Amino acid sequence: MAQQVKAVIARAKGAPVEVTTIVVPDPGPGEAVVRIQACGVCHTDLHYREGGINDEFPFLLGHEAAGIVESVGEGVTEVEPGDFVILNWRAVCGQCRACKRGRPQYCFNTHNAKQKMTLLDGTELSPALGIGAFAEKTLVAAGQCTKVDPAAEPAVAGLLGCGVMAGLGAAINTGNVGRGDTVAVIGCGGVGGAAVMGSRLAGASEIIAVDIDDRKLETARKLGATHTVNSRTTDPVEAIRELTGGNGADVVVEAVGRPETYQQAFYARDLAGTVVLVGVPTPEMTLELPLLDVFGRGGALKSSWYGDCLPSRDFPMLIDLYLQGRLDLGAFVTETIALDAVEQAFERMHHGDVLRSVVVF
Ligand code: APR
Ligand code: ZN
Ligand code: ZN
Repeated sequence: MAQQVKAVIARAKGAPVEVTTIVVPDPGPGEAVVRIQACGVCHTDLHYREGGINDEFPFLLGHEAAGIVESVGEGVTEVEPGDFVILNWRAVCGQCRACKRGRPQYCFNTHNAKQKMTLLDGTELSPALGIGAFAEKTLVAAGQCTKVDPAAEPAVAGLLGCGVMAGLGAAINTGNVGRGDTVAVIGCGGVGGAAVMGSRLAGASEIIAVDIDDRKLETARKLGATHTVNSRTTDPVEAIRELTGGNGADVVVEAVGRPETYQQAFYARDLAGTVVLVGVPTPEMTLELPLLDVFGRGGALKSSWYGDCLPSRDFPMLIDLYLQGRLDLGAFVTETIALDAVEQAFERMHHGDVLRSVVVF
């Protein structure tokens, strides 16, 4: 029987979000209904509300979530009712060329639930990133659920579903940071802060945090930065060079998504270093570089999408490290809020006041 639950939707471009009742169908083949326990507020939710991603309003927002599997449809083997899971937006197909070549991070057939959740009048909802978890319950593909240790705090676990995983993965997966490496992270919000934490986990010897906001630099120190640079007052490329014996960093993570910070990342790396681009630019942004500089510098320029994570490999591992006290994922939860406070959380996010606000149910 379809169920009615409370949820946060964006009805039209630019309009404030609203709490309303939605209809969640029973899970069909390959699907699961999850009772959401916590869901973080991410920039991407705001981008949906502003019509910046596509225009399939109304959106059911929320996608950084953890909860309990309530029911599963036919043929589901991944999870069963009662499992504590983190939701992901990369349920890989296992069949495409990328999957078959052992690179499921680039799967081109990631899937979501086939059925649609709706408003009471039958209007179909577009779930953010195929999840839609600012809702008491949501319908997803079973492959979007990754079972993790239920001892983990839901508000903390859910963050691995998007931004924190993107930052940790930018360092440990895409950047492949190793023991003794020097790392610079440009932009230390939730994503960059997680890249700092990931670099520490990977054994980096120096972690240089760069931001224009001293509050973020202070937090970055707590997350593991060994040096901080305020790029409003100090040239970050020069500072990074100076702090790395004139070489530049082995790995530079860009977690802002702007031309000037892309450029800084490009020039702040060691000649053999790696630049990891995790900040998402807007479509009109461009960057001009002297070709001789592109040619003359070795190393690698990589973009990192979802931290090149494999949920089934990375979520349980990171949750275990967190439960062992070796990864302070709780540091990203600035505040927990109720479902009706998402709009205010967007406001605080906009002003840079929080790493993450998390809705708890
Ligand atoms: N130089 C350095 N830091 C900057 C600059 C700049 N020119 N402009 C902004 N910042 C800092 C902000 O002060 C903030 O600390 O970048 C940080 C951005 O953090 P958040 O706004 O919290 O965003 P976050 O969730 O971390 O995401 C960062 O990664 O995945 C992408 O879409 C995401 O593009 C976004 C980026
Ligand atoms: Zn695939
Ligand atoms: Zn997100």
